Amino acid sequence: MDIEKQVVAEIEALLGPKNIRTGNDAEGFLEDFWGRARGSALCVALPGNTQEVSDVLAICFKHNISVFPQGGNTSTCLGAVPDASGRSIVLSLSRMNRILSIDPLDASITAEAGCILADIQEAAAKVDKFFPLSLGAEGSCQIGGNVSTNAGGTSVLRYGNTRDLVLGMEVVLPDGRIWNGMRTLRKNNTGYDLKHLFIGAEGSLGIITKVSLKIFPSLGHLTSALISFDDIANLTAFTEPLRRAFDTSIIAMELISGSEVRIVKTMMPDLSVPYDQSISWFLLVDITSDGETDIAERLQDVLGEAMESGQIVDVLVSANETQRASIWKLRHSVTESHKKYGMGMSHDVAVPIGDIPRFIEIAKSKVDESFPQAEIAIVGHVGDGNLHYNVMFEKSRWDAIADQPQMRKDVYKAIYDIAADMNGTFSAEHGIGALHVAEMKTYKSEIELEMMKGIKAYFDPLNIMNPGRILPE
Ligand code: FAD
Ligand code: LAC
Ligand code: ZN
Repeated sequence: MDIEKQVVAEIEALLGPKNIRTGNDAEGFLEDFWGRARGSALCVALPGNTQEVSDVLAICFKHNISVFPQGGNTSTCLGAVPDASGRSIVLSLSRMNRILSIDPLDASITAEAGCILADIQEAAAKVDKFFPLSLGAEGSCQIGGNVSTNAGGTSVLRYGNTRDLVLGMEVVLPDGRIWNGMRTLRKNNTGYDLKHLFIGAEGSLGIITKVSLKIFPSLGHLTSALISFDDIANLTAFTEPLRRAFDTSIIAMELISGSEVRIVKTMMPDLSVPYDQSISWFLLVDITSDGETDIAERLQDVLGEAMESGQIVDVLVSANETQRASIWKLRHSVTESHKKYGMGMSHDVAVPIGDIPRFIEIAKSKVDESFPQAEIAIVGHVGDGNLHYNVMFEKSRWDAIADQPQMRKDVYKAIYDIAADMNGTFSAEHGIGALHVAEMKTYKSEIELEMMKGIKAYFDPLNIMNPGRILPE
């Protein structure tokens, strides 16, 4: 029997025929969320516990077969699907989806890595606690995927990235050895803090099988304010008093361009959008309060001057939970709408917070001058300095471009160069996957890449974990 067949046979014997997928049954695991990349694999392994993950990795290590770990497969950068070699397996965590424990006194929750993010939020809410990580894909992404990509989302401003929420983890190393780092301690200065190496490693160093996470006091009453304005240059001027007045009561601060709203509205006409689409910019701010405070009145005080001077046009304050939910539905539908709209190049950049307006102005001049066929649509977690800067081509305009791969490269480079000039980054929260490996070479220093390669070589000497991802050859 050749080695490939032997590997599949060994995995099948280990997991049982129900927990391995081949041929047509593997379909859903081979293509990315956007339908942009397709790979192939000898099989998809669906282990049910840590020991089985360990045994599957030991088989792959023995036969030098690559492993592509997969969570909810919502990666935006082609991170979770196998390459085209066909000499690999996909290891899906989806059967390992249980909440293991929740301790309100310790303010911690532990779960298997395949647990869906929304299930963790719900489990925390059941004991009157709050798990803050929130993103559009929360109904399908898994906590192991979130930790592996160090996901950001909409509440980074107050609670930090996923990295700031992780207390401990269990990891299976590429050769099958298991590291039990499942602690919930807030303090533990005992040498290198190894969990941080696996957070954001995108499955390139090992497979996360369990995590322990922080949970927080429940939020009080939440109000969403939608501030409309016409000139991005005014953003800092009116958000500064807003931040000063509401401080840590601000849970989210999201920017949405009018063009973005139009795209969402066109692609999802049933969505009820409670605001004027002729406006250039919207800032969505979520504020927590005791329920007694009249947020609308306080906003009036804080933003009164900006309103009088014309820096802002209007403020819509959510009157009830239904209205709040519909505003957020619009925000969270952006990615789904882009998928339907046509060709878009999404740039997940971050720059220092005060430089956001300058970045937007410089990038607009560049796009207008070099890519006049394109439309700019922006959405972003502006409260923490992260913008999803989307350069969109309506389908017929994209089809008319002779050299599309070159156009893609040119657009990416133009925008990333602007971010780099501002000491920003080309990937703020989505990671590298297979899509941004070339940018690692362009924008990271030699010494940074050298240290990363050293870490990779220690954990994964055979380079079987997610090969071709993150690090350039
Ligand atoms: P996958 O896509 O399956 O995998 C991502 C990477 O992690 C891959 O490299 C994979 O190999 C690795 N991996 C997965 N599980 C494990 C594991 N247990 N052990 C080791 N490696 C593993 N991202 C944000 O940061 N902020 C957002 O606001 C945001 N919004 C989004 C909205 C939508 C609609 C969509 C589709 C995506 C969005 N994303 C966002 C991107 C994506 O949801 C996140 O990157 C998410 O954290 C990925 O989780 P996943 O379970 O789908 O991981
Ligand atoms: C968002 C994803 C794309 O913020 O990160 O909608
Ligand atoms: Zn985002």
